[in-house]
Amino acid sequence: MAGFEDGDTKKGANLFKTRCAQCHNLKEGEGNKIGPNLHGLFGRKTGQVEGFSYTDANKQKGITWEEKTLFEYLENPKKYIPGTKMAFGGLKKAKDRNDLITFLREETSK
Ligand code: HEC
Repeated sequence: MAGFEDGDTKKGANLFKTRCAQCHNLKEGEGNKIGPNLHGLFGRKTGQVEGFSYTDANKQKGITWEEKTLFEYLENPKKYIPGTKMAFGGLKKAKDRNDLITFLREETSK
């Protein structure tokens, strides 16, 4: 299976806008939506955003979010975290995941 490779930030921005932004904010202080704020995501364990009501499944997954774990999670969130309430089918194309993760790495750390 192919792993994460750096992608195209611009394409990633567009993917985020169309596939994720209805449920997630990215910037510090913007708060949670249907999903937790993703600011500071890289290097953080699952289920740590204050004030967000996670499922036990998400909280107890216990991995650290970084390129490799996001690459696997975003292909099929319900397979990676059985029982998650994130209603998102997944990004099946590795290239889309690479673009999106490259964008997220930049935008969630600003
Ligand atoms: C329909 C709303 C929705 C969409 C669309 C969505 N998410 Fe989520 N997301 C959620 C919810 C709700 C959770 C919390 C899941 C739980 O507690 O089981 C979550 C959890 C997450 C987590 C885990 C966060 C943590 O702190 O452990 C990540 C990472 C994530 N989403 C990224 C994304 C990305 C990237 C996209 C776009 C490809 C996306 N999500 C699309 C609702 C959504």
